[in-house]
Amino acid sequence: MTGNEVVIVSAVRTPFSKFGGLLKDFRSIDLGALVIRECLRRVNLAPAEVEEVNYGLSVILEAGLETDVPGRQATLFAGFPPESISLTVNRACCSSLSALRLGYRAIRAGEIQTALAVGSDNMGRAPLLAPGIRWGSRLGHVVLKDPLFELGYPDFAPLARDAGEVALEYGVTREEQDQWAVGSHQRYFQAWHQGKFAVGEELLAVEVPQKKGAHLFDRDESPREDATLEQLAKLPTIYGSPTVTPGNAPGLSTGATAILIMSADQARKKGLKPLATILSSVATAMDARYIASIPAPTITKALEQSERTLEAMDLIEINEAFAAMPLVSTRILAGGDAGRQQALLQKTNVNGGAIAIGHPVGASALRITMTLMYELKRRGGGSGVAAICGGLAQGEGIVLQV
Ligand SMILES: CC(C)(COP(=O)(O)OP(=O)(O)OC[C@H]1O[C@@H](n2cnc3c(N)ncnc32)[C@H](O)[C@@H]1OP(=O)(O)O)[C@@H](O)C(=O)NCCC(=O)NCCS
Repeated sequence: MTGNEVVIVSAVRTPFSKFGGLLKDFRSIDLGALVIRECLRRVNLAPAEVEEVNYGLSVILEAGLETDVPGRQATLFAGFPPESISLTVNRACCSSLSALRLGYRAIRAGEIQTALAVGSDNMGRAPLLAPGIRWGSRLGHVVLKDPLFELGYPDFAPLARDAGEVALEYGVTREEQDQWAVGSHQRYFQAWHQGKFAVGEELLAVEVPQKKGAHLFDRDESPREDATLEQLAKLPTIYGSPTVTPGNAPGLSTGATAILIMSADQARKKGLKPLATILSSVATAMDARYIASIPAPTITKALEQSERTLEAMDLIEINEAFAAMPLVSTRILAGGDAGRQQALLQKTNVNGGAIAIGHPVGASALRITMTLMYELKRRGGGSGVAAICGGLAQGEGIVLQV
């Protein structure tokens, strides 16, 4: 690897709330400002010392209710000086890791020493649209459009349909997807009971104003301790998908994430202990239909760039955009070898994934990165790879050494 060594020195997120849940009225830019402030507070760094803020989001219509420069607005709300450089990045669910990659590249190239990556979305606050109404409605019904409905792209098949069909193409059944989904909730609760999702590490608590004073929101809202295979098997499929249901998909979530990176030299100068070293950070894309597969080539590319092997990875995170993603991608990575795939799955999303935790789309990529990092740290170190898929089969991946 050429260039300056890049390390993570701080990483934090809000708990993720569900559709219509506790964070439903929070503007995504305010949640962004919240994690920015906390990420810096933890390492006692002044905003003026951050040379670049790259801010990822996916639900642009929600941020668009207030601003067309959410990165700029969130940094100003977070107390950054007016001279601060920020950029808003949208690569769908990949966005926040794309934001990290931009800072990573600039630090490696020696252009800057310190960068902050952010991701924030409030999916449930996406407004209903009344297109054409600006010029009046002469006669007939006025139609409202829901940008969340079928969560996809009108010129393409719904993501859930593509993912379900591709899963079947790879021999991944509905039952396997439901099983993975139940496992996601179970692994989350196992981790949670062990104190792994505690405030102060991955999480910060958010004060939610309520009629009788503020409620301290300090844990993810979506995980279901009572999830069973029998219940999941009864759920109907969504959006014409042959396999994807509300049970083996994540919900429409709200939350924000932030990761602060520095050159290793700068961290040393500041007396900060690195949480992890970034060994590679890559982007990919492929035929839009194959969104369930894209984490596989993304992981391969990230490993190639870091000159590591899959077997050398202690842990893997593959975002559960649906249960199909980790299942299809590990099947591809294992070359169809069932034993090898099982071995990969054993170390994938060991503390649960987006099906349990939630998936605020523009924020999740940094969530899987910090979940991976903090678990490696708890284990006394090691290396791991994280990959996420994004709309129309884009990918983003990262390899960490702790
Ligand atoms: C799937 C989706 C349409 C469901 O929306 P919703 O109807 O608001 O979701 P709900 O949480 O109410 O779940 C629907 C039903 O499934 C049930 N359900 C969901 N998960 C369950 C579980 N683990 N066990 C038992 N039941 C479950 C709910 O209880 C609910 O039942 P009810 O109708 O009897 O109340 C929505 O969450 C969605 O679009 N998710 C996909 C998001 C996505 O695509 N992300 C990006 C990927 S790239």
